[in-house]
Amino acid sequence: MVTSMGGGAFRDGTAVGVDIGGTGIKGAHVDLGAGRLVADRVRLRTPSPATPDATAGVVVAVLDQVGVGGPIGLTLPSVIRAGVVETAANIDPAWVGTNAAELFAHATGRAVAVVNDADAAGIAEMQFGAGRGQRGVVVVVTLGTGIGSALFSDGTLVPNSELGHLPLHHGDAEDWAAESIRERDNLSWKKYAQRLQEYLALLEKLLWPQLIIIGGGVSKKAEKFLPRIKLRTKVVPAQLQNNAGIVGAALFAPSLPTQSLAR
Ligand code: BGC
Repeated sequence: MVTSMGGGAFRDGTAVGVDIGGTGIKGAHVDLGAGRLVADRVRLRTPSPATPDATAGVVVAVLDQVGVGGPIGLTLPSVIRAGVVETAANIDPAWVGTNAAELFAHATGRAVAVVNDADAAGIAEMQFGAGRGQRGVVVVVTLGTGIGSALFSDGTLVPNSELGHLPLHHGDAEDWAAESIRERDNLSWKKYAQRLQEYLALLEKLLWPQLIIIGGGVSKKAEKFLPRIKLRTKVVPAQLQNNAGIVGAALFAPSLPTQSLAR
């Protein structure tokens, strides 16, 4: 199914989600009721340097290829408050202080919402994946270039939790236990599982969650490390994997085509 241009979240229960990452910008038309992509996703390379203007240019190109109008939700790997980028741990420092909601609304001419990447993936996982119906405190942890987190209480998101920056081994936890560190240092799965064990034990000690969901690309290989993790908290792999960010981004798309929502 493809909606006509100018459709969007409010009219037919679909919206476009765009997930902006360090290497790729991925977008797709999303069925918001089913949490599934309506058509194959489009992926273009993130520009280098990934300045705000260059990134907006690639977002426009992704949207052209997706070919569906209406409101959009976008993710960035940053703290986002009221549409403004507050941090840039793994993206171009030029983003800090940028009103991303305004930038993308201007570049695309559409109603947009901008949200932290892990919060988007987490929302998708809570609605359609491993966190469905889960009450109490849930932490979704995304392991990638950095460590992202999405914190929920009875299904409600506490945005911008940034638990990848908890201190661990005299630095940020993400510099110790992100998937990129496993790859960079060629860590064995056993060694990587030990690092995750330490990190997740810290989360457990501080937050006492009912459930921890492990997302990010490496969650596809969860059988390599999850069986080694020993916590009181139940720890499960994410179910949506690659598309969680896109689906979550679309869920944040403003529901009224005329409304410009800067989250
Ligand atoms: C950023 C977060 C982001 C995470 C995953 C961290 O370095 O601070 O905002 O969610 O990486 O991309």
